[in-house]
Amino acid sequence: MKRVMVTKTGGPEVITVEEAPVPKPGAGEALVKMEAAGLNYADIMQREGVYLGGPTPPFGAGFEVAGVIEELGEGVNEWRVGDAVMALCSNAFSEYVCVPASNLIKKPNQLDFAQAAAVPCQYLTAYHTLITLADVQPDQRVLIQAAAGGLGTMLVQVAKQRGAVVIGTAGASAKCELIRELGGDYAINYREQDFESEVKSITDGVGCDLVIESVGGEVFDKSLRCVKTRGRLVVLGVASGEPRQVDTVSLLFHNLTVSGFHLMAYTQDEIAMQHACSDLYAWVASGLLRINIGATFSLDQVAEAQQKLASRETTGKVIILP
Ligand SMILES: NC(=O)c1ccc[n+]([C@@H]2O[C@H](COP(=O)([O-])OP(=O)(O)OC[C@H]3O[C@@H](n4cnc5c(N)ncnc54)[C@H](OP(=O)(O)O)[C@@H]3O)[C@@H](O)[C@H]2O)c1
Repeated sequence: MKRVMVTKTGGPEVITVEEAPVPKPGAGEALVKMEAAGLNYADIMQREGVYLGGPTPPFGAGFEVAGVIEELGEGVNEWRVGDAVMALCSNAFSEYVCVPASNLIKKPNQLDFAQAAAVPCQYLTAYHTLITLADVQPDQRVLIQAAAGGLGTMLVQVAKQRGAVVIGTAGASAKCELIRELGGDYAINYREQDFESEVKSITDGVGCDLVIESVGGEVFDKSLRCVKTRGRLVVLGVASGEPRQVDTVSLLFHNLTVSGFHLMAYTQDEIAMQHACSDLYAWVASGLLRINIGATFSLDQVAEAQQKLASRETTGKVIILP
């Protein structure tokens, strides 16, 4: 079978495609035939060696898969060969991948495999950030950075399901159009307008109840100034590669909360996962959640796919097909 490897830390040139034997599922694992895999910003950070706690090269690339169970390892009784599933895993950019059975999620019938490959990382991150952690309420104002990206398009829609007023930012007018199509109430092209002043104007100078920040650098500083008194900012990532220090005095005077969020702390929370999955099945069945596939690439094109994502050329979810 074909699999994509990151041979050492570096640029896209360290990505290789190699032939390898189909793996055997160990105890507690299922062998999944990959039908689609999700590309994420963290794939780029892992390849660059800047992802905290990331794998050490050489490693199999990709960590989000959708496909069909081909074989079950010892002790896996709750799944059947032929089940359509999606999961977080290692080595997702491979024709076959062994997945811990505890990570498997049943694929909703309404989603094709490419759409399903957007669920394990980006949908679950959006859901747990907005609902499990921040408990967004109707009419709360939520500012979402990079709102036309893979995670951003999920955040916009999940926030709208909660009845929030959504303000999204993006770096191109076509991206802003997508934010509005997904239900975003306001879309700000930060290359044309200063998002901080726009947010102040939209909120009559009050600021937002919740700001979802994944860029870092100056965007973080300005985002923090968009949080209203007693509001919250959640840090999801640092796409700019520039983490920021927080001025604790400004936090206390404005009664602000700054939280971090990382998906791995939520995937073993059975109750939260049940809520996330039952809302997912209901929303896709009723057409309330749209999964936007911005681009698809083959296993041979993972390096190119990563370059497009890193250079901000993509919208929605980027998918790797076998
Ligand atoms: N904490 C977690 O558990 C978790 C889980 C999933 C994702 N994340 C984080 O969420 C963010 C989005 O991830 P994603 O996979 O969905 O990617 P994405 O949003 O599809 O792509 C990244 C987007 O970020 C924006 N951006 C702003 N500054 C950038 C810069 N200096 N370099 C590159 N992009 C920049 C670009 O949109 P514009 O052109 O509109 O600016 C770009 O399209 C990442 O920071 C990722 O690490 C965190």
